[in-house]
Amino acid sequence: MAEDDLPMPEATVQNVLEQTDLKWIFVGGKGGVGKTTCSCMLALLLSQVRESVLLISTDPAHNLSDAFCQKFTKSPSMVNGFSNLFAMEVDPTVESEDLEEQANGLGMGGFVSELANAIPGIDEAMSFAEMLKLVQTMDYSVIVFDTAPTGHTLRLLQFPSTLEKGLEKVMSLKSKFGGLIGQVSRMFGAENEFGEDALLGKVENIKAVIEQVNYQFRNPDMTTFICVCIPEFLSLYETERLVQELARFEIDTHNIIINQVLFQPDVSDSKLLQARVRMQQKYLDQFHELYEDFNITKLPLLPEEVRGVESLKSFAKNLTKPYVPEPARESTGAERIRELETEVLSLRAEVSNLQLELEKLRGGH
Ligand SMILES: Nc1ncnc2c1ncn2[C@@H]1O[C@H](COP(=O)(O)OP(=O)(O)OP(=O)(O)O)[C@@H](O)[C@H]1O
Ligand SMILES: [Mg+2]
Repeated sequence: MAEDDLPMPEATVQNVLEQTDLKWIFVGGKGGVGKTTCSCMLALLLSQVRESVLLISTDPAHNLSDAFCQKFTKSPSMVNGFSNLFAMEVDPTVESEDLEEQANGLGMGGFVSELANAIPGIDEAMSFAEMLKLVQTMDYSVIVFDTAPTGHTLRLLQFPSTLEKGLEKVMSLKSKFGGLIGQVSRMFGAENEFGEDALLGKVENIKAVIEQVNYQFRNPDMTTFICVCIPEFLSLYETERLVQELARFEIDTHNIIINQVLFQPDVSDSKLLQARVRMQQKYLDQFHELYEDFNITKLPLLPEEVRGVESLKSFAKNLTKPYVPEPARESTGAERIRELETEVLSLRAEVSNLQLELEKLRGGH
């Protein structure tokens, strides 16, 4: 079909590889669109141009291990076959329990759960902050986040602000009622004020990290968000929501990867697939219209899954060089004529079938 009606600007993610000050790269989008695949490929490409790369999955349903066919844990381990690419899978909910346990040990359990009630999301935010603090000290050149499906990701990006506000509240309470908290906790059996101060010290400490991260996340030279989607209505809609939310959080985004694209020459004579090519084309056009100033990279739908370093490496080529379907690259004039003749024939047959069906229906009335 008229896939080349409008010459579409073909972009790549080369711009991300060239932004050498980038420190935090978030990869996000709707469930199952290819976030993990894209973040793994991006990390692979970055490892060729940056000193060291850390890939972090913040999705509780981790799948870095599946993509790389290698088990990862909550501390960074080197990806097999690389010397400067590391990966880890963190669970945002586990660490907060640790914090609570620690607080309980200090006789501050009540205080922490009060805090959690007063500031919704603070426990998750604290564990995210702890993780960022850890990662900051490790000194990787760039950190790629494979995030959980959209809703969760946006919450994660809000954590620094949530925490900053929450901590301000806590610190002001501490200065007003510090002594009182100490007395009350002693009354209830906590050994001394040391426990309280240790915990609040920890909170202060996290606050400093959060302030720094908050600044870095809002700096477009240091942080960017890559939206992954597929050429379908729901994904387009979800991407728009994501882009607007990111603007609200002042987080830079200027790359969209459209995955699972079907290319006309790849679908040959399947009517079903040809119909899907037309459907996808409609949404691809809309993506280009809506996101004129974005780099839009298209990735083809493959017949097989993308698993293991070799598959990821080979598929990643499409992130730096626009994919060109095989037959289109190689077909000669004569082949193209035959392809078009076949297509015209099959469309004629389809039209006459539809006409027959229409006449039958008309005849019945
Ligand atoms: N272009 C593609 N062609 C064929 N298979 C693909 C393509 N992109 C991704 N896949 C496969 O689709 C599955 C889902 O991809 P992936 O895990 O990257 O999605 P996700 O967005 O991270 O999903 P989730 O929301 O569940 O985390 C994987 O098995 C992956 O290998
Ligand atoms: Mg995933």
